Amino acid sequence: MRLSPLYITVFLLFNCTWSKKTRIKGVQWWTLANTGQPSNDVYSPSAHLYSPALLPLTKKQRKLTTKNPGTILAIAKGAKMAVDECQHQFRNRRWNCPIEENGHGGSIFGKILEKGCRESAFIYALTSAAVAHSVARACAEGSIYTCTCDYNLKQPDGKDWEWGGCSDNAKFGHKFSRKFVDVIEKGRDFRYMMNLHNNEAGRRHVTTEMKQECKCHGMSGSCTIKTCWMRLPLFRAVGDLLKDRFDGASRVLPGNAGSMETEGNNGGGRRKRRKFTLLPANTNHKPPGKKDLVYFEDSPNFCEKDTSIGFIGTKGRECNATSLGIDGCDLMCCGRGYKSESYTVRERCSCTFHWCCQVKCKVCTRTKIRHTCL
Ligand SMILES: *[C@@H]1O[C@H](CO)[C@@H](O)[C@H](O)[C@H]1NC(C)=O
Repeated sequence: MRLSPLYITVFLLFNCTWSKKTRIKGVQWWTLANTGQPSNDVYSPSAHLYSPALLPLTKKQRKLTTKNPGTILAIAKGAKMAVDECQHQFRNRRWNCPIEENGHGGSIFGKILEKGCRESAFIYALTSAAVAHSVARACAEGSIYTCTCDYNLKQPDGKDWEWGGCSDNAKFGHKFSRKFVDVIEKGRDFRYMMNLHNNEAGRRHVTTEMKQECKCHGMSGSCTIKTCWMRLPLFRAVGDLLKDRFDGASRVLPGNAGSMETEGNNGGGRRKRRKFTLLPANTNHKPPGKKDLVYFEDSPNFCEKDTSIGFIGTKGRECNATSLGIDGCDLMCCGRGYKSESYTVRERCSCTFHWCCQVKCKVCTRTKIRHTCL
């Protein structure tokens, strides 16, 4: 499909008018990541801390968590998991997923979300995946009142095993995350389409990475009966996959701009909202798939301090003097140069094993060199 110049002009005008007013809304639930390591015990004394009335949630999110007791802890765990995973995946990049306790507009990820760039895409996908993952596991652990292990898996014909045991409830996790996370996207612009797409892409990486595990029963492991269940992937695996999607994210443009769609009845009257399709910005590319991340704005280069995105720049960041990659000093420091300092570390060395059972070590001091960006 070819885009006419007129169409592009309209898009740009439109783009500029709404990107100015962009506000990050409804993502306050991310701050639940800061509530410490919540105990999984719904009866724990700290459970009252999670009383929905006190939480940074929208009205609809509150309703949903009240209807499903136990989900708040799972959401808080998920938010924490997402923050840790984001920082792990980006530890060697200029943008290293910095967190602000009292971030802009209630977003702990800060103002970067005002941009429709790859980093925002990743954050939305990862946080939504984390809620799906965490809730699915919590169901199986019995810590949510309204769900259990998934006992409704379909048995394929002619197999020598059967479902048994407790499967992580990916279906419930996916559905819950969709309701809880997507409810905040009620914008009328292209950005909400981008966010919804990335949210769903994140969740799909959880459901499609479920793995079957089996166990044999019978005399001395003879496997006369084999039972199987479905287990969630490690969240690290989801993070790795989403990072790959980040690297290969699709730049998109709105298609069908302006065509109005009547929203379904949900309680109130019918509303119209603009419905966009996501077209690849490069017409030679395929349209983005359901698991692809999409964005529509270039990322900043993240070199210098930039208050408009709340990023402090790479000054002072540690870099690798021999690497040619983005963690190397050339790229990490954006050509500003770096300084090298030596420091000593004390570590255990020359360890020997003594029968039985002791390991004795010496303490050695070693000199290391640290390179940091100017
Ligand atoms: C620095 O980069 C080199 C080359 O990529 C790599 O072999 C080395 O392990 C890196 N060092 C650190 C401390 O990451």
